[in-house]
Amino acid sequence: MNMLSPAKNEAEVFIPSYLPKSNECRLFELAWTRQLPLLLKGPTGCGKTRFVNHMAASLGLPLTTVSCHDDLAAADLTGRYLLKGGDTVWVDGPLTRSVREGGICYLDEIVEARKDVAVVLHPLTDDRRILPLERTGETLVAPPGFMLVVSYNPGYQNILKALKPSTKQRFVAIEFGFLPRNQEIVIVATESGLDEARVAPLVDLAHRFRALKGSDVEEEVSTRLLVYCAALIDSGMAAREAVLAAMIEPLTDDPDVRSALIEVAKAVIV
Ligand SMILES: Nc1ncnc2c1ncn2[C@@H]1O[C@H](COP(=O)(O)OP(=O)(O)OP(=O)(O)O)[C@@H](O)[C@H]1O
Ligand SMILES: [Mg+2]
Repeated sequence: MNMLSPAKNEAEVFIPSYLPKSNECRLFELAWTRQLPLLLKGPTGCGKTRFVNHMAASLGLPLTTVSCHDDLAAADLTGRYLLKGGDTVWVDGPLTRSVREGGICYLDEIVEARKDVAVVLHPLTDDRRILPLERTGETLVAPPGFMLVVSYNPGYQNILKALKPSTKQRFVAIEFGFLPRNQEIVIVATESGLDEARVAPLVDLAHRFRALKGSDVEEEVSTRLLVYCAALIDSGMAAREAVLAAMIEPLTDDPDVRSALIEVAKAVIV
């Protein structure tokens, strides 16, 4: 199958396009077959969510995605009793629903979630594969189709938010980075509609900006921003304006850094 062109699987489901970086598609498939949980590590905008969407659709599995935040507690994932017209009824949370239906549950930015989430995930991510629902007294055994996928960005991690080794070591892990130049050009061209010859200097500029990480710039230009930039140019915006709007302004608020990046851009983009 051409991974770049959106395809349909047997059930005629739309499969989001995804260009593999390495062996990650095979690894995902094997992890799902062998019922192993998966951890995706990598910077923002490098393709983690797209990868999970692509794999879930390719395998024909329902996908539940939860964006974790610092208020997200275990009960937000498992469920809670709610008042409905005078009655108290149990309402499954997204994780419980996903376990019941035997699909993929994707917890994005897992390190953001509150500590009690680990208590729920641990028995689900070792060979027990169970989800105890304390409040209802039920213990769900995950069906073979169920898979837990979590992601986090090690760059944003601070000591307080690090994943505990006992959590980390329950997952098979894949490190995501930005693609090599030629592959990134193909993706940005495919996603934006701009031809590869006009995308190439944008990717080269992104490489120059990425090389500044740590010294002047804290963030790296993501593939996502490159796609935005190319889309603006494809819609008729001048390249330098698009670069400013999509590759410089989102990257820094510091006026000196901004000026320095504009100078670098002038040397690359005509
Ligand atoms: N390998 C790839 N194949 C196809 N498109 C890609 C690929 N990698 C990145 N992209 C493009 O980059 C965009 C951003 O990717 P995505 O949203 O998956 O990033 P992410 O790693 O989940 O970021 P975040 O950590 O911010 O959630 C996608 O919408 C897609 O256009
Ligand atoms: Mg994402």
